[in-house]
Amino acid sequence: MAESISVVNNLKKEEKYEQLIPQVKALVDGETNRIANMANVCAALKEVFNFFWIGFYLVENDQLVLGPFQGPVACTRISKGKGVCGTAWSKNKTMLIPDVEQFPGHIACSAQSKSEIVLPFYNGQNQIAGVLDIDSDQLNSFDETDSQYLEKLLNELREALG
Ligand code: SME
Repeated sequence: MAESISVVNNLKKEEKYEQLIPQVKALVDGETNRIANMANVCAALKEVFNFFWIGFYLVENDQLVLGPFQGPVACTRISKGKGVCGTAWSKNKTMLIPDVEQFPGHIACSAQSKSEIVLPFYNGQNQIAGVLDIDSDQLNSFDETDSQYLEKLLNELREALG
């Protein structure tokens, strides 16, 4: 049976990430199937932060293809350089978007999505494997704390996700 995730409520975001990261690492430990691991990473983040939408898009040729996620149905394919996800991929950098309406070319999978963070992630060979996309139904939901801890999480999960 999988371990359950246990993070104390009413903590600061930093402390929630500090508690969550080792638990997610333990959750994927010993599992080599990256889809299974991505699915559990989404579920763990959803459980702790209750994000509106959280999911992986995976590099396939010149597109990103929808992978495991939690939340409403979403666009299945995104071209390189398109939207926030395709831009995070082509620029190979984390995108923090406080208001999606201000991002030219934002792909609105859901009209409820108001702000988002998208982070590239890498495999064990240091190649970009896809992006992690987290959307909020509120403006300004993400900041440097999220980018710092989510980058750390993705870095520590290279073997599990790549
Ligand atoms: N927000 C993304 C599209 C994916 S969905 O929101 C799930 C973008 O503009 O790349």
